[in-house]
Amino acid sequence: MNVMQPIDRIRGGVHEKEKHESGHKHVSGTAEYIDDILEPAGTLHAYLGLSARAHAEILSIDFADVNASAGVVGILAADDIPGENDISPAHKHDDPVFATRKVEFHGQPIFAVIATSRDAARRAAAKVKIDYRDLPHVTDVKEAVAANYPLVIDPLKLERGDIDAGFAKAKNVVQGEMRIGGQDHFYLEGHISFAIPGEDDEVTVYASTQHPSETQHMVAQVLGVPSNAVTVNVRRMGGGFGGKETQANLFAAVAAVAARKYRRAVKIRPDRDDDMTATGKRHDFHVDYKIGFDDEGRIEAVDAVFAARCGFSADLSGPVTDRALFHADNCYFYPNVRLRSRPMKTNTVSNTAFRGFGGPQGMVGGERMIEDIAYTLGKDPLEIRKLNFYGGEGRNLTPYHQMVEDNIIGRIIEELETSADYAARREAVLAFNHENHVIKRGIALTPVKFGISFTKTEYNQAGALVHVYTDGSIHLNHGGTEMGQGLYTKVAQVVADEFQVDLDRIKVTATSTGKVPNTSATAASSGSDLNGMAAANAAQQIKARLVSFAAERFGVSEADVAFEPNVVRIGAERVSFHDFIKMAYTARVQLSAAGFYKTPKIHWNRSEGRGRPFYYYAYGASCSEVSVDTLTGEYQIDRTDIIHDVGKSLNPALDLGQVEGAFVQGMGWLTTEELWWDAKGRLRTHAPSTYKIPLASDRPRIFNVRLAEWSVNREETIRRSKAVGEPPFMLGISVLEAISMAAASVAGYRIPPRIDAPATPERVLMAIERLRGNVATETTR
Ligand code: MTE
Ligand code: HPA
Ligand code: MOS
Repeated sequence: MNVMQPIDRIRGGVHEKEKHESGHKHVSGTAEYIDDILEPAGTLHAYLGLSARAHAEILSIDFADVNASAGVVGILAADDIPGENDISPAHKHDDPVFATRKVEFHGQPIFAVIATSRDAARRAAAKVKIDYRDLPHVTDVKEAVAANYPLVIDPLKLERGDIDAGFAKAKNVVQGEMRIGGQDHFYLEGHISFAIPGEDDEVTVYASTQHPSETQHMVAQVLGVPSNAVTVNVRRMGGGFGGKETQANLFAAVAAVAARKYRRAVKIRPDRDDDMTATGKRHDFHVDYKIGFDDEGRIEAVDAVFAARCGFSADLSGPVTDRALFHADNCYFYPNVRLRSRPMKTNTVSNTAFRGFGGPQGMVGGERMIEDIAYTLGKDPLEIRKLNFYGGEGRNLTPYHQMVEDNIIGRIIEELETSADYAARREAVLAFNHENHVIKRGIALTPVKFGISFTKTEYNQAGALVHVYTDGSIHLNHGGTEMGQGLYTKVAQVVADEFQVDLDRIKVTATSTGKVPNTSATAASSGSDLNGMAAANAAQQIKARLVSFAAERFGVSEADVAFEPNVVRIGAERVSFHDFIKMAYTARVQLSAAGFYKTPKIHWNRSEGRGRPFYYYAYGASCSEVSVDTLTGEYQIDRTDIIHDVGKSLNPALDLGQVEGAFVQGMGWLTTEELWWDAKGRLRTHAPSTYKIPLASDRPRIFNVRLAEWSVNREETIRRSKAVGEPPFMLGISVLEAISMAAASVAGYRIPPRIDAPATPERVLMAIERLRGNVATETTR
């Protein structure tokens, strides 16, 4: 037995700035994505045939030329589906794999061609001849409301206080509307699935999915087999951003059906244009609002309706529009409030989860109201914000009746005002604008409060599987998926910390429905909260067995056994971790455990609009300064400062990366990323040529990003950390607000500029022309 000298601490424990476990593989090209998996001999390739109409009956389909095309092995349509032709995650039976008699959006899958190569399948799919009879279609939210289109799911209403009395009391009442655009996920790895048939009814699917369990269930449903016949594996995604929470199910189902039918491995990977056309995106919103406030800018009443372009089916539109309402208050107390959602059906692709999950749209609506108050009263919007923050007697209740108990926005704002030198820089911007007539500047400091937990309480559970092998190496598996956010690294750090072994002893293995069952999507930013806890629980079970073994073997009390860095201390003895594990194995101690976690304290009654949907809130603030060319509407971001709250960070390096990336993605959503459907209902922005995500050159010229290092989660989350994935996305709002200020400067900061999102240069120019009185149009659409 080796007697080890104690060392200080392990390498790569929690709270350490550890690099992403695959960072070096991402940059050297050795990280294996699904398209890199070696294909078995005889692998076939599928390609989708998409609708060329927005809304039409299918009168006939002529596949003759498709079948005659080189390399074609067969065609799959709705009739070839052995089980149910449905992959609706909302269980509304409104999401067919393949359309049957009717198509409901331009780009809806109607069939798939199976061929010997992807190229052959793609060329053949284009040769189909479909006879349609057009039906009237609606692509826009407002048109859908006007046309009395149905809702895809029951709307939500949040109500508190007495809005009539609130408006009656208010000295000022302002009404307005705002359009907020959608967003394409633009993950670097597009959708892809690879299915390998097994014996009997079995199939293994490698899918780029954030939700392996749901993909498993959907594949089973479409195949008409039990879930135990289907295994879904995911090592990593090249980005998901919510776009792979439900949207991967289509591709997995098609690959699996083809694999079962032809008894060959089948891969499906749409090209970027088809990926953008045929899969859902962030919901566009149309917000109608009415606000009452006093002469200081203190809010008395808010009444708002949030209508969303949901597309042809429900998908996740219910919880997305709910989350919009949950964030329409952002950090502000509304004494009297009514918020209503309108999840509108439209003849467009079914919209889905996207970082923030409706929260950003709700928050942009809330911030627009603040802006309206400020420019109506001629005040600094930050002053209005501070006046309305949650806090103080009777001012902590949200519109959904959850108390805000962990409010730290005041401290974050105060620190950011100081570190960004807000007051002096705002004075300088005002002076600059006074002197300059072409270039105008704007500066804005905006807060974020984001609720953490799935609003569907049952989703807040997770499982993990930990094996310790006899050489002391550790195999870690959990239900969360890796999409670049660093989840695998963080959970491994937790397990390293539990066992007090160096991080490199732990291997996180591909997420698999065969190892950890019935998991939730890796979504709602809850990946490390849930899976970190489940993995800690598994490790603790093994440790408990090891402790009682050691106490018994060495004749010491259990309190005298401790896991110290790479060593187990038993009384006065120190044994290396791997020697100790070998001893435990020899003594027949079970060295494997399944862990579990469920979030405490949360509950939510949707029909009453009351409860505690969120375990806690994550906070942050950003301050952006922009320069706008008022002759062209073009702008640049001169500087952004951020302070963001991640509680006690599990990994400050990864968290900082999440904050920076989310800010840039949020800023892209609100500035240059524009989705455009034409009169025929065709998405015309379906490639980087027409859809402009931020480039490195669009980043703020000066970019100061800090974590609120003093923050500790008051709830007992994993090592007192907070979720980080989505909240900082909404830090991008400061850019929109800064652009607004620059525009408002042309009318003496006394007219609300009301620029719709995204604030493309065209829209900014139109708003400036309108504010200068050169054009009369009310909207900037
Ligand atoms: N970061 C990267 N690099 N890639 C992604 O796809 N998705 C975001 C966020 N950060 C994403 C990301 C979204 S939408 C969510 S919900 C969370 O990561 C999910 O992971 P987590 O719960 O482990 O934070
Ligand atoms: N956030 C993200 N994804 C989800 C949610 C949520 O609240 N509910 C269902 N899927
Ligand atoms: Mo994130 S939108 O919850 O996948």
